[in-house]
Amino acid sequence: MAASLLAGKKILLGVCGSIAAYKACDITRNLKKLGAEVTVVVTDGGARFVSPLTFAALSAARVYGSMFAEAEAHAIPHINLGRQHDLILVAPATAQTIVRFAMGLADDLLSAVVLAATCPVVVCPAMNSKMYTHPATQANIKTIVDYGYQLVEPATGAMACKEEGPGRLADWPVIRDHLERLFTPQDLAGRRVLVTAGPTEEPLDPVRFLSNRSSGKMGYALARAAMLRGAEVLLVSGPCCLMPPAGVEVLHVRTAAQMYEAVLSHFSEMDIVVKCAAVSDFRPATCASEKLKKKDGALLLDLAGNADILRSLGDKKQQQFLVGFAAESQNHLAEGKRKLAEKNLDMIVVNDIKSRETGFQSDTNRVTILTHQGGVRELQLLSKEETAMAIFDEVVNLTGDGR
Ligand code: CTP
Repeated sequence: MAASLLAGKKILLGVCGSIAAYKACDITRNLKKLGAEVTVVVTDGGARFVSPLTFAALSAARVYGSMFAEAEAHAIPHINLGRQHDLILVAPATAQTIVRFAMGLADDLLSAVVLAATCPVVVCPAMNSKMYTHPATQANIKTIVDYGYQLVEPATGAMACKEEGPGRLADWPVIRDHLERLFTPQDLAGRRVLVTAGPTEEPLDPVRFLSNRSSGKMGYALARAAMLRGAEVLLVSGPCCLMPPAGVEVLHVRTAAQMYEAVLSHFSEMDIVVKCAAVSDFRPATCASEKLKKKDGALLLDLAGNADILRSLGDKKQQQFLVGFAAESQNHLAEGKRKLAEKNLDMIVVNDIKSRETGFQSDTNRVTILTHQGGVRELQLLSKEETAMAIFDEVVNLTGDGR
């Protein structure tokens, strides 16, 4: 796992009186695992669902509750807590607490801290869907967003009250992405980035296909890195089991031909294209409409070549910055240089598919970045998240002219 952007950050977690308060225990743990310092403020309602003792044990820190605790009075927590932290995260935030924020009330410790805070405030609502969609709640949410508080919208699904709809506390990966984005320089803001990821599948009959061992991890890490840096991201993904990052638009495709269509139809709108997908170079020349039956002897497959998507992009390229990948098992640099030139790329990322640490499906990668200008940058063994960030560092360096 990459060193998180939340490592060393001081985060104040406000926990309100919703059944989703139990999820705040995991949020505390997850933030601690990423290296953040966590201080918890529990409202009276929150403390009815989860004991402050639990948060004290999980955060390894003092938990704040009452506004008038004599032992804390000298430290003026209702003012200073919002000044001593890098961020306030309110999760779960109830309808009642959102009213307090919208009205500027300061009748409990959490609302007073938020009113006096100088750091960003991120609010993650959790409540019954009728409460959430009620015009009063929506108006209060609009008010706090207008004040500059950031909203992490709730998920839609089954709730503890047996109703369905929007109101479930956002999942941890969504909250984490939101927080990490706050601490990431927005050097891709205003850029449109297209990333391709995963394998393609080329059907042979209704049940079989030709494919490869790409997991999609590198491409999904690239899409997430671009999103965290403020880009508008379109991810064109072949079949894989990964959860796309929140805030990234995803087009799911199966075959190389579908990927070709999806990528080419969006190419003109893009500023940066990163072609990380492991596209099948060949497909069965015909796809049988019925399952192929077992016969004695060998089955010979007739394969047809697929179009090279990246080469087509290189031919059509105008203002776009084009990044390719080269999956190599030998002559890495020479092959990378050849593909960089032949496909008219601005940059190519060469990786060794033979090593267990860097090949398909691993969580780590060791790549060499070659640029059109002749630059060669060898990265060390890094997680795929770190590798993705380093690739965009290079892209940002080379496109600093606002291209
Ligand atoms: N690529 C593509 N369309 C294809 C094949 C490859 O867009 N039909 C892209 C990949 O997404 C990658 C780059 O081309 O960015 C290089 O892919 P790679 O498999 O390393 O090389 P190939 O060009 O297929 O050449 P070879 O198989 O001979 O190594």
